[in-house]
Amino acid sequence: MENELRVPNHIAIILDGNGRWAKRRGMPRGYGHIVGCDNLEKMCVVIKDMGVKYLTVYAFSTENWKRSRDEVEGLMKLFRQYLKRCIKKAHKNQMRVRIIGDPSAFPQDIQESIHILEDCSKDYDQMFFQIAMNYGSRDEILRGMTRMISDARDGRLPKDGFEDGKMTEALFESYLDTAGIPDPDLLIRTSGEQRLSNYLLWQLAYTEFYFTDVPWPDFHEEELRKAIEQYNRRDRRYGGVKEE
Ligand code: IPE
Ligand code: IPE
Ligand code: MG
Repeated sequence: MENELRVPNHIAIILDGNGRWAKRRGMPRGYGHIVGCDNLEKMCVVIKDMGVKYLTVYAFSTENWKRSRDEVEGLMKLFRQYLKRCIKKAHKNQMRVRIIGDPSAFPQDIQESIHILEDCSKDYDQMFFQIAMNYGSRDEILRGMTRMISDARDGRLPKDGFEDGKMTEALFESYLDTAGIPDPDLLIRTSGEQRLSNYLLWQLAYTEFYFTDVPWPDFHEEELRKAIEQYNRRDRRYGGVKEE
């Protein structure tokens, strides 16, 4: 069965529902984040073993600072531990890990762990794993365009970045956090919500969407398989017509 499935080259996931999953068990929301984080570690390997080359997960949005101090502190603690474990996983799986988003808002030690993780994995190519942390698509675009304006002022924009006076998509994309990473083929959002919550607005222009009620801590291999099966039944057209 597995070999018959066309596996997406790039899967993006909005890891949602940790809090509700925990509350339903009479546990604090933070417990849901701990179990969700363990699940991410496991699923990352499952996804790699399926032959997916790129995985991009939404771990913390620019809007998530609005949560209670307790919850945000719990998440920072979890990131601290997770980033360290991720260094080992990166070596073991020959996986390049990049953080998308603005890390400057995180405590110094977390920023250091991010730097170490990105640097030590930069030559791996068995899988490309992107973690969106303090990420918001609008923030990404604004940060990118601010850099572009500064490059323009310094005369550093490439001439081939414009065609007939209009900026090319390639030039715009080169200023995004995802520069060099192909667009996602499949977006999965767990736990019932059907919105993007400021995730990859530019990059998801032609992505297939899959929504499931299953909360992230319960999203295991068989749920992923359902998503990929459904993806295989989609008829992707990119604005063209179906080839008979
Ligand atoms: C997703 O789970 C994880 C993060 C946003 C960090 P939530 O914390 O959003 O869980 P729900 O949606 O409240 O259940
Ligand atoms: C989006 O989930 C962000 C992450 C999964 C990290 P949220 O749970 O924060 O999104 P909203 O608030 O329901 O839109
Ligand atoms: Mg949520």
